[in-house]
Amino acid sequence: MLKRTCYSDNIKDGEEVVLAGWVHERRDLGGIKFILLRDREGIAQITAPKKKVSEEIFKLMDSLGREWVITVKGNVKSSPQAPGGLEVIPTEIEVISMAEPSLPLDPSEKVDADIDTRLDNRYMDIRKPKVTAIFKIRSEILRAARDYLLSQSFVEIQTPKISASGTEGGTELFPLSYFEREAFLAQSPQLYKQTMMATGMDRVFEMAHYFRAEESNTRRHLSESDAVDIEMSFIENEDDVMHILENLVSYILKCVNENKKKELSLLGIEINVPPTPFRRVKYDEAISLLQEAGFNVHHGEDLGTESEKALGNIIKEKYGDDLYFLTKYPLSTKPFYTNFDGDVARAFDLDYKGIEISSGGQRIHNVEVLKTRIKEKGLPVSSFEAYLKPFRFGMPPHGGFGLGIDRLIMQMLNLENIREGVLFPHDRRRLEP
Ligand code: 4AD
Ligand code: MG
Repeated sequence: MLKRTCYSDNIKDGEEVVLAGWVHERRDLGGIKFILLRDREGIAQITAPKKKVSEEIFKLMDSLGREWVITVKGNVKSSPQAPGGLEVIPTEIEVISMAEPSLPLDPSEKVDADIDTRLDNRYMDIRKPKVTAIFKIRSEILRAARDYLLSQSFVEIQTPKISASGTEGGTELFPLSYFEREAFLAQSPQLYKQTMMATGMDRVFEMAHYFRAEESNTRRHLSESDAVDIEMSFIENEDDVMHILENLVSYILKCVNENKKKELSLLGIEINVPPTPFRRVKYDEAISLLQEAGFNVHHGEDLGTESEKALGNIIKEKYGDDLYFLTKYPLSTKPFYTNFDGDVARAFDLDYKGIEISSGGQRIHNVEVLKTRIKEKGLPVSSFEAYLKPFRFGMPPHGGFGLGIDRLIMQMLNLENIREGVLFPHDRRRLEP
């Protein structure tokens, strides 16, 4: 096999190159034949004028099918009509792998496919340059997140994904048989990252994988999702945690803007990097804004999908903000580990264009208070013994958040459906691929 010398976006006039990729399209104008060769970085035009290439190559150009894998050796020439102003005149073409003629979907994006067809044939869907672009941006989001947190002296950790109990409320657990006992897939690293605060590690983060048995089929929930989770000690209140979160999100947006220009322009997206600090909207104010707009919402309830979306529009109109914190939630809407002042939780959500992308707050670090809250939530204290023990032997005040990556990319790129930003999304109906 010919060895690739460069990607299609890196060819230069006058060079001899070897490209490797898929046959995106073919055109035949009689005396001149074209192939568009697609690789990860773009599309290059392979041009074979009858008079300038060998008879063998001229013939081979005809036999190639769409989506065949080929390598092409050739000479780069400038050509104003070609994409990028350059074309490659082939001197050698190798067929590496053929494709059946009837394709499950059209990678050249001329024919639309519905989301189910796309996901059923995800390997081919991802060949589309716009879909590839989403996953290159996703990679940059994760790189930037790591970069930022490491710069703020966070230590990266990994915690178990098989756990003895739930953390975020009992209903969304995936049970599994763990030898002779019952166990669950981890909903969140919540309890482990709190335990880490008793180890003296002080500031930790995890590129975490969540498993949640979400019964309903929505455009923003998955059975498996990814998040950046952090936990930090010696905080005064939840504002210390919000400060890290807003700077993290702002840094991620800035990095994507600066380092993924080609992908953003392909997707037709302009990212607005908001100034920090982000707006804080108290829960009470959010309820009033919604009531004024005619929504039937009541104090004490968690915001539903519709009101969350409406609130996003109201805040955008009133203040021009895409990203804003919702603060001072009623304690009853938050999990047992949440710290509080009276019946107000020291917790927040971060919303992006009307969808929650993160939740966090200050945790309870007093073991007796924690036990009381577990009981008040109707949970069995006995199943939290391993979690509670570290709180008895020196636990600093601490807090953290979980930032959903799938939600973040969905809102950043205005994707219709969370599934578009996930390679192989799993949900109530979909387990394969
Ligand atoms: O709001 P959640 O449930 O908060 C926690 O897990 C806490 N332990 C975080 C903390 O440190 N206090 O989940 C955090 C984020 C959500 O805001 C959302 O972005 C994402 O994770 N998320 C999901 N994304 C897609 N599908 C699902 N089923 C999700 N569940 C949560
Ligand atoms: Mg939440």
